[in-house]
Amino acid sequence: MKVVKTVSELRDAVSAARQSGQNIGLVPTMGALHKGHGALIDRARAESGCVVVSIFVNPIQFDKKEDYEKYGRAMESDLAFCRERGTDLVFAPDEAEMYPQPQRVFVEARALSEYLCGMFRPGHFRGVATVVTKLFNMVQPDRAYFGEKDAQQLAIIQAIAADLNMPITIVPVATVREEDGLAISSRNVRLDTDQRSRAATLYRALRAAADRLASGARPVEARLAAINVLREQPSIRVEYLEIVDPQTMRPVEEIHGPVRVAAAVWIGETRLIDNVLQVHR
Ligand code: PAJ
Repeated sequence: MKVVKTVSELRDAVSAARQSGQNIGLVPTMGALHKGHGALIDRARAESGCVVVSIFVNPIQFDKKEDYEKYGRAMESDLAFCRERGTDLVFAPDEAEMYPQPQRVFVEARALSEYLCGMFRPGHFRGVATVVTKLFNMVQPDRAYFGEKDAQQLAIIQAIAADLNMPITIVPVATVREEDGLAISSRNVRLDTDQRSRAATLYRALRAAADRLASGARPVEARLAAINVLREQPSIRVEYLEIVDPQTMRPVEEIHGPVRVAAAVWIGETRLIDNVLQVHR
């Protein structure tokens, strides 16, 4: 496994792989790698000749400076993790390499960023869209892998690739969960034992809504069912819980196709997001 820190080394390594006939799969991450990232790398490994993992904690997507500072960093164990999963190339630039001067040009998918997380995290998706576009231009992968856990991020990146005519296939990967249903996230370590035992309520709530939808309930009723489950735990504060169209990320009032039940909640000082896809029969 090769580890590079500069864009020029990255381009050289990628073009060597391409010249030897390999297709390129990119897995963008912010490090602190866990089984969720592992599923993306495994999928890329299965489908690509050359697997590139990027590790970069992107300052411009953090709406609060302290979140950026306290974001987990674990380069040594991340590299071991990538190696074990058969990664060919890790791109781990520092901030000056990624942003040699303050970024002047941004990528924005405004219509997809107005609801859900976008409403509560101003500028976040602009930062994500911009760094992912930069990574796409640096690596020029055939495929890029993103988790369904971050469904709004996924929808925005799919829109960028489509609307900006990028010849990149965006591959969604199903959310990896703990045994009790909690979606794996680098934020989970911030939960204390008591909070951790209550955190799976989020998934139970989303499932309750999805099950209601499956048995023909309207979105408004399904949403209430989920909110009622969350009310069992008064220490969980709901930021949003909506039933949305997976492409537009806008709340739906009637079911005409697949929907996502998506939520963000706070448990103490920790914000958790999750969603489930409900395909209408
Ligand atoms: P990060 O939070 O490190 O996540 C990297 C990728 O792993 C994302 O596509 C995310 O959806 C996926 N992922 C995280 N937890 C997962 C889980 N439990 N199951 C499946 N996939 C999971 O998302 C980012 O970084 C950044 O915003 C990034 C796209 C790298 C841009 O900076």
